[in-house]
Amino acid sequence: MAQAMSVPAVDLLGEYRSIQAEIDAAVARTLHSGWYILGHEAASFEEEFAAFLQARGGDALACVGVNSGTDALQLALMACDVGPGDEVITVSHTAVATAAAISLTGATPVFVDIDPQTYTMDPAALAAAITPRTKAVIPVHLYGHPAEMEQILAVAAQAGIRVIEDCAQAHGACYRGCCVGGLGDLGCFSFYPTKNLGAMGDGGAVVSRDPELAERVRLLREYGWTPAARYVSQVQGMNSRLDEMQAAILRAKLAHLEAWNEARRQVAAWYADLLPDTLVKPVERAGCEHVYHLYVVRVAERDAVRRELAESGVGSGIHYPVPIHMQPAYKGASGVRHALSHTEKAAGEILSLPMHPHMSQEQARATAEALHRITQRAAGKSPAV
Ligand SMILES: Cc1ncc(COP(=O)(O)O)c(C=O)c1O
Repeated sequence: MAQAMSVPAVDLLGEYRSIQAEIDAAVARTLHSGWYILGHEAASFEEEFAAFLQARGGDALACVGVNSGTDALQLALMACDVGPGDEVITVSHTAVATAAAISLTGATPVFVDIDPQTYTMDPAALAAAITPRTKAVIPVHLYGHPAEMEQILAVAAQAGIRVIEDCAQAHGACYRGCCVGGLGDLGCFSFYPTKNLGAMGDGGAVVSRDPELAERVRLLREYGWTPAARYVSQVQGMNSRLDEMQAAILRAKLAHLEAWNEARRQVAAWYADLLPDTLVKPVERAGCEHVYHLYVVRVAERDAVRRELAESGVGSGIHYPVPIHMQPAYKGASGVRHALSHTEKAAGEILSLPMHPHMSQEQARATAEALHRITQRAAGKSPAV
């Protein structure tokens, strides 16, 4: 029997330690600057993140730092004048934040089904869900795999609705030569600590090819104030500022994002070789570059497998166990009127395996060996050595 090895699902401390000197310097620099909100660090991060995305392909982007991914989505919707009486189409198989941002504007989230292989929005389901009240669509690049944007953009263009990309799990992912975030009208990122680019607190950003939309987000993130007229609101906005400490930390981490995404892709390649074939492994569609925020497999008897993995010292997660339309807050909402069979089936089978850029091949192997043992035992075969 192989020696049990602890494999955490994520390793935020390992990430910090891998660039500790750079992060400590960024924090010290900010502390000694005497300026803690919307200053040099936030402005520099906005420029550097836009440049990072542009280097991955697509048009020039403007970037606005905000306080979270949820705020980024809400501000993007507000910039598109989405409000009460409007419908916004999205998926039910996503973080609840996607739907929460829609509800916060007063609009109604309308849930459509996913492609069961990529777990992203089914463009045909989108087309079928459009009504005269539809104002926008939010495709989610879930787990780091881009949604089927060509078809989604075509459906949206025909319907005359806005496209707001939820890129919270896909920093640096590409779709047909363009970075995600630069494909729709606006792209929204989260810098929650576990994300591919994570702050050490909350953070988010909105990007856009349209300077006017970006400027509107900039106004809305701080009460509708302009730099020329602080304390005088031009529009009704909110407080969603990216603080200097988080911006400085994000600048330090951004320098490593490309290498970290590559490391995630390497872990995925190890898994593809090592995992039992009885699991359904993630796909990477032609023309898409997956950045593996999560490595999600499908497995029979998922909850039992997860328990046994934990007993073997292997962490895992379920993203997400209850589709949004089945959660108490959203159950029976008027926007639920489409078949969500792929969504509901996936929720019972998905399992997120350990995935982070500091994972070793031995840890990937230990995870795979544990899964071989568990699934063979479940199938009534003798355990592997
Ligand atoms: C797909 C998705 N959208 C939106 C969000 C919201 O981001 P935040 O937690 O920064 O508000 C998250 C993060 O949890 C997410 O995974």
